[in-house]
Amino acid sequence: LASLEVDLGGIEEGSTVTMKWRGKPVFIKHRTADEIAEADNVNIGELRDAEADDDRCLEKKWLVLIGVCTHLGCVPLSDAGDFGGWFCPCHGSHYDVSGRIRKGPAPLNMEVPEYKFLEEDKLLIG
Ligand code: FES
Repeated sequence: LASLEVDLGGIEEGSTVTMKWRGKPVFIKHRTADEIAEADNVNIGELRDAEADDDRCLEKKWLVLIGVCTHLGCVPLSDAGDFGGWFCPCHGSHYDVSGRIRKGPAPLNMEVPEYKFLEEDKLLIG
């Protein structure tokens, strides 16, 4: 299966880009220090799908997600919703800056694909 190489150099801090990988959207979010703090400052026990931010990223400033809502598969909107992450307009699921489900009908956090850093500014997804 095809891997996708991503040059992170052009992705500004605070922004999110959408790429295509194996027919699905992939979100790459360059998180600010505030967003990282927000992702860490969550009571894990209150999450529907309990996952620490540290377990969802290799480098805190880069969040990589399969951009598919875990409810019925719509593509959520980036930098939207009540938790500063994503909002799925299909039935109103809100995801936080770690891609974790916080409100609405989706049962699970958005999936983190397999990836690694080839260099500081280069990712290989898949
Ligand atoms: Fe996203 Fe239903 S598909 S909320």
